Amino acid sequence: TVGPDVIDVRSLVAKGKFTYDPGFVSTASCESKITYIDGGAGILLHRGYPIEQLAENSDFLETSYLLLHGELPTQEEKDKFVNTITHHTMVHEQLAQFFKGFRRDAHPMAVMIGVVGALSAFYHDSLDINDARHREIAAHRLIAKMPTLAAMVYKYNIGQPFMYPRNDLGYSENFLHMMFNTPCEEKEVNPVLARAMDKIFLLHADHEQNASTSTVRMAGSTGANPYACIASGIAALWGPAHGGANEAVLRMLDEIGDETQIDKYLAKAKDKNDPFRLMGFGHRVYKSYDPRATVMKKTCDEVLAELGLEDDPQLKMAMKLEKIALEDEYFKSRGLYPNVDFYSGIILKAIGIPTELFTVIFATGRTPGWIAHWNEMLANDYRIARPRQLYTGYAKRDYPKK
Ligand code: ACO
Repeated sequence: TVGPDVIDVRSLVAKGKFTYDPGFVSTASCESKITYIDGGAGILLHRGYPIEQLAENSDFLETSYLLLHGELPTQEEKDKFVNTITHHTMVHEQLAQFFKGFRRDAHPMAVMIGVVGALSAFYHDSLDINDARHREIAAHRLIAKMPTLAAMVYKYNIGQPFMYPRNDLGYSENFLHMMFNTPCEEKEVNPVLARAMDKIFLLHADHEQNASTSTVRMAGSTGANPYACIASGIAALWGPAHGGANEAVLRMLDEIGDETQIDKYLAKAKDKNDPFRLMGFGHRVYKSYDPRATVMKKTCDEVLAELGLEDDPQLKMAMKLEKIALEDEYFKSRGLYPNVDFYSGIILKAIGIPTELFTVIFATGRTPGWIAHWNEMLANDYRIARPRQLYTGYAKRDYPKK
């Protein structure tokens, strides 16, 4: 029942002229100067700078600048960049109307895919992807508007009025202001929580050719506009094997319930006949500790201490689960360590961000990376992405005579 294509392509594979690589485990789809990962050694570099040093010394907007421009900004360049982003944080009032077409209980990622894609309907003035200045304006708009849209999704879900961004606040502080303040009560944003939020954004800013970034590049290779490309990245990020993992971690902790059930769930995770996997563990590239997880764990401890949540039973259970899994032979032998999402989920919960919004936070942090890759592709030679396949269907056959 195999068709002639199968035979043809298999012979090409055999001659080394065609690569069959499901999941793209060992296929490079592009050249890039943005991010380097050594999964075996647990190394992540953005434009050459180790993620640990960026997390310690930089902030999200500065790291975004680095990803986009290739170098750290001077103080003057940084001030200008922050000022530009700050002045692009508002969204068109008509976009607020667009939200109202969604059900209030819609998943925030479903709404984000729609509203980010819809930004292309508002910015006809800057959709020439061959113009570097247009690409830069789109980058600024997307980085600036993502937290505003994310907070609007939340406010719409809970039935509160949208909060306007405030130009006197920093990027992450502003996000928490739009999330948790109301027109009736505006509180100062806790600086420890604002710093933790900024670190979450920074640690998610880029991760080379992951599924969502590859999706953005692929959509971009057709000449699609930047807002449509980022909307496609958001869609790819939604899945539980990618950006949905931090949400899945919290759902898993709910399912496990309490410490007495940990062993039962670890056994399920090891059972190949059981689809259950330990969420927040394992990574396609890192087969040792995810360097972002180390930074995130420290931030997690700071946030729990600040909020007096060290004794929260679910968070204590998460820490115990992590400890047991790290010592377990099954996880050790497969290089399965906690990934960044194991801790980011715990921090976000402690800050008060609802589980359904976790992947939206990830998308907000990943936006500069998506845009940097899209821009890098367009600024250089590229071809439309068009993977091939190994056809395993029927050979040619005739339509049955009636
Ligand atoms: N729990 C239990 N076993 C696991 C887990 C897990 N979380 N992850 C991998 N394994 C096992 C597999 O069953 C397999 O075992 P085997 O060799 O006995 O067959 C082995 O480890 C290798 O796993 P693969 O599935 O080949 O690894 P892959 O690279 O394809 O998958 C992935 C990586 C998707 C991240 C996987 O580890 C997973 O599903 N983890 C849970 C979801 C998660 O946390 N995702 C977040 C990724 S990080 C991010 O997107 C920011």
